[in-house]
Amino acid sequence: MNADELRRQLAFYQDLGFTDLYRRTPSASPPVPVATPAPNIPMEILPTAAADTLPLILQDIGDCKRCRLHEARHRIVFGSGDEHAKLVFVGEGPGADEDMQGLPFVGRAGQLLTQMIEGTAKREGIPIQRKDVYICNVVKCRPPENRTPEPDEMEICGQFLFRQLVTIQPKAICALGATAARALLGRKEGVTRMRGNWFKWRDLPLMVTYHPSYLLRPYNQDAKREAWEDLKKVLHFVYD
Ligand code: URA
Repeated sequence: MNADELRRQLAFYQDLGFTDLYRRTPSASPPVPVATPAPNIPMEILPTAAADTLPLILQDIGDCKRCRLHEARHRIVFGSGDEHAKLVFVGEGPGADEDMQGLPFVGRAGQLLTQMIEGTAKREGIPIQRKDVYICNVVKCRPPENRTPEPDEMEICGQFLFRQLVTIQPKAICALGATAARALLGRKEGVTRMRGNWFKWRDLPLMVTYHPSYLLRPYNQDAKREAWEDLKKVLHFVYD
């Protein structure tokens, strides 16, 4: 790779929102931070879009202390499911159960999400289970008291979410709730206005729907029905 190609590569990653780039050395030694793009950086610089992998992203997250959310977390919740999934669900951030288990959507909201995915798929004759999709969050550490992540926390952690999406290259993304919609689309309007419509994250089709936690509230029966409709649309788009 010559200097111009390298510069273009670095600009590409800056456009993707990566603020930390590392030069990977051939040995097992820790990654060396690269402060500014210099023309003589050798070609081992990673990741390139093609070379990035989920294990590499997890390795780069490491024992992350990039934002205040690390202070109270028990486990980093990276994501789970099929690395080659055609469909990725993006939530807001881990709750208490997820923080203890290190897995996304395993508490009450997660059980509802699983039920929604598997129930809708079965009813629609689509042979998939939860393990066939990929599920992750905007922030990988639990916000204290389950508060909404702050903009700086979303931006810092967002680079890893973006890498996950670029690596998986799903056929579609389903943003669960306003925080995921804001992180991926930069839109601040309510989910009620956005849901059920197709948007794009980069060139990937993205549907916004309600967050399962919202659907657990007893007075949101209409939203529940709408969320099921949204999911049906997404599943047919991806798997038909
Ligand atoms: N809510 C989320 O947004 N993500 C989880 O993983 C669990 C609950």
